[in-house]
Amino acid sequence: MEADKLLENPMNTAEITMDKIVSLAKRRGFVFPGSDIYGGLANSWDYGPYGAQLKKNIKDHWWRTFVESRNDMVGLDAAIIMNPKVWEASGHISGFNDFLVECKECHERLRPDQHLDAANQNAFMLAFSEMTFKKMEIEKLKKEASPDQAMIEKYEHDVETLAEKIFGALRTIECPHCGKRDWSHPTLFNLMFKTFIGPAEESANIAYLRPETAQAMFVDFPLVAGVSRKRLPFGIAQIGKAFRNEITPGNFIFRTREFEQMEIEYFFDSKKREWNEVFTYWQSEMESWMKSVGMDMARIHPTEIAENERAHYSARTVDFEFDYPFGRKELFGLACRTDYDLSRHAKFSGQDMTWQDPETKEKITPFVVEPTFGLDRGLLAILLSAYDEEPVGEGETRTVLRLAKSIAPVKVAVFPLMKNKPELVDKARKVFEVLRKDIVCEFDDNGNVGKRYRRQDEIGTPYCVTIDFQTLDDGTVTVRDRDTMKQDRLSLADLGNYLWEHLR
Ligand code: GAP
Repeated sequence: MEADKLLENPMNTAEITMDKIVSLAKRRGFVFPGSDIYGGLANSWDYGPYGAQLKKNIKDHWWRTFVESRNDMVGLDAAIIMNPKVWEASGHISGFNDFLVECKECHERLRPDQHLDAANQNAFMLAFSEMTFKKMEIEKLKKEASPDQAMIEKYEHDVETLAEKIFGALRTIECPHCGKRDWSHPTLFNLMFKTFIGPAEESANIAYLRPETAQAMFVDFPLVAGVSRKRLPFGIAQIGKAFRNEITPGNFIFRTREFEQMEIEYFFDSKKREWNEVFTYWQSEMESWMKSVGMDMARIHPTEIAENERAHYSARTVDFEFDYPFGRKELFGLACRTDYDLSRHAKFSGQDMTWQDPETKEKITPFVVEPTFGLDRGLLAILLSAYDEEPVGEGETRTVLRLAKSIAPVKVAVFPLMKNKPELVDKARKVFEVLRKDIVCEFDDNGNVGKRYRRQDEIGTPYCVTIDFQTLDDGTVTVRDRDTMKQDRLSLADLGNYLWEHLR
């Protein structure tokens, strides 16, 4: 509701740059560089006090919406390190790769797919896959008892021609660092972080940090279905860290190597429910949630992903793209994973991954629609949607985060009008102690009231309660609204109800 109001009356007119967001995030302790005292670690970020609280509020809101408020959803909190066979079955070991090229001049590395236009990307992909096939054929021929030399030479010639096509496409990319267009041969780079279980670093002990939270929801499907006694359709939800050894992380918390996902795997019988219908239903559920956390819906664009760009498991993908200051890019995704994952785990584990209808006794492998939300990208989109600069007279501007009240890290700030008046400070402390029992509150007596308002505006606190001399006389306080800056005077007896009503 409150986000609707913001959208009807958009005040967010300031030009929002990443510099402004990064600077506010650092200044107010939302997000700052990780390992800072050691010079940081590239693209690693820590969430400070308000950032941690905001992140928690977004997760709680998501969990409340998609798990606690529904009868057809249950939660899961699975281990990050899973049996490596999981990643064989899921296709991540063979297929979770990005192309990598290196500038021959300055050794800058990048992902060509992020820099090629559509025509060159197509030409590049076709030539690369054909070349891979031809190279495999050459290897096969060479292993034969009497290799067909003419055929080998023909294939080798084809490989040279294909290499020219690949380099032709790559030459359209100018190195962002040195400006040259001379790239190495592309290689495929697996994005999973490898580690070893136990002290011996040998291949038998290799394990991976999960690149998506999704797989545990497939692997645990029979157990969860059994213990929760859910009937199809039902979903499993999970929030947790995922890790990808990204070649080109960057743009603040947009693309990092360690990030958090909030994912749902929604299982259904594809004979009883048309999968595109389930897909459309979840698209609208995702949009409602984005609205409810105050995302600027005018900047969100559901985009159909072409077959050749979809993940290997997906029959259909819609990416919700967001207009970031650095361009329109993916925010969240929705995919139809069909019965791919459950079937693969059945094959690789030898276990029964089906669901048995208790009435008909029929066993089926459910289809899956997967709404997936990146928490860090979500938080960035929320900050960008909420950020505003508003003229407040006499050439002054205030910076205000118009966060949805439900996710604001601090809901109410309590001030004594003056710090050096013990009777005001005592009264304000008492009010604060009462309110904090039910509401996340902050007490502030630093600087003048104007400065305290600015500080609370910058962290998005919806209400500031000020205790002044009139409070001591008649038991009334002022409540200042973050968005309108209007102040209401009301009695302390009504304060709890007022905040309860307005923060709902
Ligand atoms: N289980 C499906 C899956 O993982 P994905 O599109 O690869 O799909 C889902 O990732 C979401 O995770 C993305 O929409 C994005 O919000 C977030 N995400 C992916 N890679 C990320 C990264 N390197 N840094 C931050 N967020 C990322």
